[in-house]
Amino acid sequence: MCGIVGYVGRAPVVEALLDALGRLEYRGYDSAGVAVLNSQGLEVRKRVGKIRELAATLRRRPITGHLGVGHSRWATHGEPTERNAHPHVDCTGKLAVVHNGIIENYGPLKERLIAKGHKFASQTDTEVIVHLVEEFAKRHPIPEAFRLALKELRGSYAVCLIAEQDAKRLFGAKNGSPLIVGIGQHESFFASDVPAILSRTRRVVYLNDLEVVELTAEGPKLTTLEGKPVRRNPTTVDWDITAARKGGYPHFMLKEIHEQPEAIEQTLFNRLDPAKGRIVFDRRSKRFLDGLSPSEQFIIIACGTAYHAGLVGEYMLEELARVPVDVDLASEFRYRGASLNRHTTVIAVTQSGETADTLAGIRLAKAQGAKVLAVCNVMGSSIAREADAVLYTHAGPEIAVASTKAYTSQVTALALLTLYLAKQRRHVPPAQWRKLVDGLASLPRLIDQALASEPAVKAIAAKYAAARNFYYLGRRYNFPSALEGALKLKEVCPVIHAEGYAAGEMKHGPISLIRKGWPVVFVATASPVYEKVISNIEEVRARKGECIVIASEGDAAIKRHADSLITVPRTEEFLSPVVVAVPLQLFAYYVADANGADIDQPPNLAKSVTVE
Ligand code: AGP
Repeated sequence: MCGIVGYVGRAPVVEALLDALGRLEYRGYDSAGVAVLNSQGLEVRKRVGKIRELAATLRRRPITGHLGVGHSRWATHGEPTERNAHPHVDCTGKLAVVHNGIIENYGPLKERLIAKGHKFASQTDTEVIVHLVEEFAKRHPIPEAFRLALKELRGSYAVCLIAEQDAKRLFGAKNGSPLIVGIGQHESFFASDVPAILSRTRRVVYLNDLEVVELTAEGPKLTTLEGKPVRRNPTTVDWDITAARKGGYPHFMLKEIHEQPEAIEQTLFNRLDPAKGRIVFDRRSKRFLDGLSPSEQFIIIACGTAYHAGLVGEYMLEELARVPVDVDLASEFRYRGASLNRHTTVIAVTQSGETADTLAGIRLAKAQGAKVLAVCNVMGSSIAREADAVLYTHAGPEIAVASTKAYTSQVTALALLTLYLAKQRRHVPPAQWRKLVDGLASLPRLIDQALASEPAVKAIAAKYAAARNFYYLGRRYNFPSALEGALKLKEVCPVIHAEGYAAGEMKHGPISLIRKGWPVVFVATASPVYEKVISNIEEVRARKGECIVIASEGDAAIKRHADSLITVPRTEEFLSPVVVAVPLQLFAYYVADANGADIDQPPNLAKSVTVE
């Protein structure tokens, strides 16, 4: 996953590719590479690290030519190494591909290709594509071989191919992942994102799924997978570069909120098999989890938003898997003198995998003989490397400082872990198990539906944007949602003070501040404590506070308790924090926007806190 570029034209290809890759750097990546066709044949250069390091390699070992592809990789499947970096080549070294997306059936395809004698060099799913084309190219011309290979793929892809056998053009196709064509003056481009090419052309052809392109310097020829011609006129992009980077959204935060259905799909991918009612983990994680003792003690450590995900995890693991769990702020854990042993598993939840306190926490745990499982978004990060096993969240790069999609994917990963342990320990009756698994499988769709609340949330945010103090209250699984909602608001709108509490705590102090017009955000979705939350709402209203209530769709009775009402799709209670997160994030975003806040880079905050 990350940036794809392709170039054919009169300019030196390496310069064009590096320029385009550089313009996608803001998305984050861990390795990069280019493949070029010239009179010597196919030449490939790859580097782990930054584009400037790839550029240095290309200065030492230059390649000339006018046709090539490039890629910046943000590791999802397979560590960030040179071998796993794109482009990937076939056995003959005459074909090269770059790819974004996930090939779901790469396992069986790889086995089939190995049986036919193909040699694989990387751990990626991408590599099957190039070997498949190689296989079909034994009997078909390249355009046909490419289409036949694409027909074999299940999953998502944006893919570009270059072939020594057909050296005057590039080939590209997409299904589910973005790929565009740029048309310049006697030069053409492929790119996964508009910003890559905006400095050279504004004439763009947006590809639809299952369309294939043959690209020369004079422009694209589009066909279907069956080879039928497709006509599409170019459109002119009128975004400036900043808007283009954000995919047309005004802020990365909003873009990332909208990316959540896809992010959660990635977290669940290859792990949840709803048809068989199974949770499947990679071999290392499975060995780790299957080796735990029945009396294992779990301690979740994390900071900030990741800590809130950990709190949701505590409710899930204790209720459904019936394992004892403590949750600690990593900054406290490392100094509280916890006594750990070899029957303790520390679960470190972290987006970046670099947070100093969390890293110190796992080192301390290991020094005491405990085991470490990381729930992490960034492959190859320090915590991922030092943990005994890693459940990657696969949420994709998160650029806004305020964590959104990383949070919901952390909760989803912890839900997978919970169900795995629950099944292993036979704690859930089959009928309930089916509901839990189906609920988890439907999460991407439910988040999509929750996003439909955006206009309503925006209107409510406008109503309360002038307020300077907010409470957020919830119970059980949505007590952490209250903490997270409050953190999101104060993070992105630093002129507002927001505090999250367990709703039952209100009478023990916070209620003293409630007065006319004081806004309180309540999470009152369907749960065994629903009536108790209603009582808390009434306590606030009795003091003339204003209640903004997030409730489950179809709850007709809630209307008379709410000054402002936001509804979210119904789901199993343990998954409700994921669905509820969407309006909480949108509310914070729109209140901050109305206050003119610097949403993506709030003052005093850093994306990754690598110092204590
Ligand atoms: C979330 O919006 C914050 N930016 C912050 O609380 C963050 O979650 C925390 O610093 C932990 O980061 P990590 O997940 O990368 O470890």
